Amino acid sequence: MQLPPGPETPRLYNMVRWIARPLPWLDELRAQFGNAFTLQLPRAGVPIVIFSEPSAVRDLWTGDPDTLHAGEANIILKSVLGKDSLLVLDGDRHLRERRLMLPPFHGDRMRAYGDTMREVTADEVARWPAGRPFSLHESTQAITLDVIMRTVFGVGSADPRMRPLRDALVKWTTLGTSRLGTAVLLMTPPEYADNIRQATQRGLGRILPWAKLVRAQLEVDRLIRDLITARRREGATGREDILSMLLEARDEAGAPMTDDQLRDEMLTLLVAGHETTATALAWTVHHLLEHPEWHDRIRAEVREVGTQELDKLVLLDAAIKETLRLTPILPMVGRVLAKPATIGGIAMPRGSVALACIYLVHRRPDLWPDPLRFDPNRFVGKKADPTTYFPFGGGVRRCLGMAFASYEMKIVLATILAKVDLANAPGKKIKLVRRGITFAPSGGMPVMLARRY
Ligand code: HEM
Repeated sequence: MQLPPGPETPRLYNMVRWIARPLPWLDELRAQFGNAFTLQLPRAGVPIVIFSEPSAVRDLWTGDPDTLHAGEANIILKSVLGKDSLLVLDGDRHLRERRLMLPPFHGDRMRAYGDTMREVTADEVARWPAGRPFSLHESTQAITLDVIMRTVFGVGSADPRMRPLRDALVKWTTLGTSRLGTAVLLMTPPEYADNIRQATQRGLGRILPWAKLVRAQLEVDRLIRDLITARRREGATGREDILSMLLEARDEAGAPMTDDQLRDEMLTLLVAGHETTATALAWTVHHLLEHPEWHDRIRAEVREVGTQELDKLVLLDAAIKETLRLTPILPMVGRVLAKPATIGGIAMPRGSVALACIYLVHRRPDLWPDPLRFDPNRFVGKKADPTTYFPFGGGVRRCLGMAFASYEMKIVLATILAKVDLANAPGKKIKLVRRGITFAPSGGMPVMLARRY
């Protein structure tokens, strides 16, 4: 089969560029090869075709999930989230667990968390210091972690039983998204991840350069298991949080989920449910601070509407969408072909990988005129097309938390804008940097408090 051309540089060199600075490289490759090109990386050992063509994106969203395996494409997350994580499952089990986990992230169940989101944000904003720079990204992480912990466990991170887990998660995600953590994540072959973890447990830990990271992960693991055991003991009946719901769930054979399965799903929601949203919040504030005209208009909108009637916050909604267009948190999503398939007119063999490139599609000048300009007007009164705008991926694997994240971002930002004026920290230039598999503003996005209301 003839795959589209791509760089003929050695695989190892490709890997280094992919890890170090993938986004400028993607721009270069599209300029050279067009909207579909093939990349060879050493670890995958199979061709990866990177698509930035809407027809290919449509094929990936509408294709048969038994052919297009997202779980297999997310394999590197196995070492972090475990083999039973929704993100790495495919087939019937994926469908069953997704159905089970979706309801709290939608409709009335989701809206029931609105007041919590407002309270958690107000408490965090009240702690922001006057007169010195502070990290907005750390602060949005604290907010989103607290919110997701309440959704998952039914109690917030301020609860004394939850505090050790919150601290352990913060430590682990900080180490895991550092340069070393990112390199370990991207370069550890998934088949050896468990051996490395066991070796660390047995004492090798002291000499591995990333031992701290593995120990932090083991601590998170232990604390989540303790919480599962405690909830089993207390009883889950009548509770609405996700842990209780999953404890009550039975498969077709009537069997409950095992502790390993529960741990992996809890961890998946805790990690996927706070890191991404926190980064998107930090990016939105960044773009607003860089565009005072939009900052002023949106602040005026929030002051007029308040933080309850979210549907009326049209400009804020558009600014969040434009943020996720220009600075998507994840630059691409992948599918491994379990059978041969034609994607975007290209016949691809079994085992190859098709990537829908969020970053490149969102920056195509023919689809998004003047693509590097931050312009929320692109989304005011317009419905986005899922083949040209897809910050949450698409098809049956579209982000489980999309509605929840969009709802939370609006509430958090409206609460911030209603309570304070922020300004850029003096002399700090924000760049786009890799944090694990996500892309975030550099330096923790330092800001200053300009005024409280
Ligand atoms: C701005 C915030 C967020 C962004 C940008 C984001 C983005 C994404 C993307 C791109 C995917 C892959 C979709 C695909 O393969 O087509 C995904 C999957 C997923 N996300 Fe999110 N996400 C966000 C927030 C959340 C939240 C709040 C949760 C918590 C529930 C969450 C949980 C998940 C899960 C469980 C999956 C796997 C779904 C599956 O495989 O069926 N995400 N997300």
